[in-house]
Amino acid sequence: MKKVIVSLMLTLGVSVTAHAAGDAQAGAAKAAVCGACHGASGVSAAPNFPNLAGQGERYLIKQMQDVKSGARPILEMTGMLDNLSEQDLADIAAHFASQTPAQGAADPALVELGEAVYRGGITAKGVPACNACHSPTGKGNELAGFPALSGQKADYTAKQLRAFREGERKNDGDTRIMRDIAEKLSNKEVDALASFIEGLR
Ligand code: HEC
Ligand code: HEC
Repeated sequence: MKKVIVSLMLTLGVSVTAHAAGDAQAGAAKAAVCGACHGASGVSAAPNFPNLAGQGERYLIKQMQDVKSGARPILEMTGMLDNLSEQDLADIAAHFASQTPAQGAADPALVELGEAVYRGGITAKGVPACNACHSPTGKGNELAGFPALSGQKADYTAKQLRAFREGERKNDGDTRIMRDIAEKLSNKEVDALASFIEGLR
């Protein structure tokens, strides 16, 4: 498994060189406008707005760059990042990364299936364990840019998995890591994973 991950990281072009260092304090002021949807504490109040608190800097920067370039279109954020520099994005990422991650709860009826797929994958369908990249506690992998998932809103997570599955979210890039995984997931598995992940810590 270690070998697979290392070779995946190589194909992804993952390097351990640091990005432009962000300043969390400067980022707080620049992120004030984001709080309307993502919450002042980085924990949002609506199920379709993702929590950003505690998310990895590398992943946050990539998503903001993708939203800005249109590689990941987000209607609600149209134009919002246009006037932000690379330094602004790094500062904003440092700000959200420094906030305390949300803690949620899973639906007891969905936990068993969700946990089984998250930790063990689905061998018969070639679905890898989510553990491998997103970590057993769901904190992700900052250096590799694999996002933290734990405590994320289930509605948002389920929407992302369906969007990857239907090819509507394509910014996992040429390696198609998440599209290839999500294509093999049924709606039932998507909903169970999303609920399990909200309660994961
Ligand atoms: C009007 C509401 C709104 C505002 C204001 C807003 N966002 Fe968003 N943001 C969204 C929505 C909705 C999504 C998720 C879209 C989806 O379902 O893919 C999102 C997603 C994101 C993501 C991706 C999260 C992930 O886990 O992949 C980042 C990063 C982000 N926003 C940063 C920002 C920043 C920085 C600002 C302020 C400059 C901001 N947003 C302002 C609505 C908003
Ligand atoms: C080989 C590594 C790998 C595996 C295994 C993996 N993921 Fe991912 N996942 C990624 C990467 C990389 C991204 C970020 C893609 C991008 O840049 O947009 C991601 C993104 C996501 C996102 C979007 C997060 C957000 O905030 O928008 C979700 C949800 C997700 N993965 C769930 C899962 C689930 C559930 C599984 C197991 C069925 C899984 N992943 C297995 C690498 C992986």
